[in-house]
Amino acid sequence: MIVYLNGEWIPAEQARVSVFDRGFVFGDSVYEVIPVYGYKPFRVTAHVRRLEASLIAVGMDPHRLSLDWPIFFRQLADTLPSGDGSMYLQISRGAAPRQHAFPANAPLTVFAYARPQIAESSERLTIGIKAVLLDDIRWSRCDIKSTSLIANVLLVQEALARGADEALLVRDGHVNEGAVSNVFVVRSSRLMTAPRGHNILGGITRDVVLELASLCAIPLDEQAPTRSELLAAEEVLVTSSTREVTAVTKIDARPVGSGSPGPIFWQLYNAFQALKDDVRQGIDR
Ligand SMILES: Cc1ncc(COP(=O)(O)O)c(C=O)c1O
Repeated sequence: MIVYLNGEWIPAEQARVSVFDRGFVFGDSVYEVIPVYGYKPFRVTAHVRRLEASLIAVGMDPHRLSLDWPIFFRQLADTLPSGDGSMYLQISRGAAPRQHAFPANAPLTVFAYARPQIAESSERLTIGIKAVLLDDIRWSRCDIKSTSLIANVLLVQEALARGADEALLVRDGHVNEGAVSNVFVVRSSRLMTAPRGHNILGGITRDVVLELASLCAIPLDEQAPTRSELLAAEEVLVTSSTREVTAVTKIDARPVGSGSPGPIFWQLYNAFQALKDDVRQGIDR
């Protein structure tokens, strides 16, 4: 695998980062994950906008980077062995003697690679996934796509230990998002999802689903469901760049709605597949 590190395209085995890199020592870095369909990076402008928002939020000036992002991501997508996959980019505050204060002169560390899509089992599609409800133990700036992910790691591990694939996170009685995804519920045939803000990562897939819902004339409320609204939902969906749109059909031990992926899921899933086909053919919508 060829990776990008600080201006060089090199085999992954040869890539080296200092043990004093603040990404390693403090988790002092931000990241992005961008899907690729048919070698075409998906929604690059939106991902770059979110990346720049994350950089600014953590006090790293995006102008310190001289990369032309659309060209860079096209180059990165071309390193994929086949057309579909995803790209990972991480930018840290660089290597410096360990102290919390920002270093004066450390160049930012920029690391990126692309990896082929991991084939989803057809079961996930037709049966859906299991989720558990857990307390949201994360910090209060979930909108920053930071690599300081220890809380998310613990939450996912707890979900797996309970035989589930995702943790749906409860804060102040509301379900804002998942440990690695945004959450939508369907109630009375209306979609409901938490609004953008500090409680959620503003998912790019979430925005795509909002657009598709509008195209499919599915009414939508940007309001975080309460725990009991979630448990009484007709359908629950999670979205992310790697999971796209997935139905959640069991929460804790209880089935969601009929216990199978429901009609709104299928509508959005099919619309998403049509969008991907367009992207593969160079129609960027
Ligand atoms: C906590 C969290 N929320 C939401 C998302 C979905 O974001 P996106 O659709 O941009 O992948 C992710 C993706 O990794 C995430 O980690």
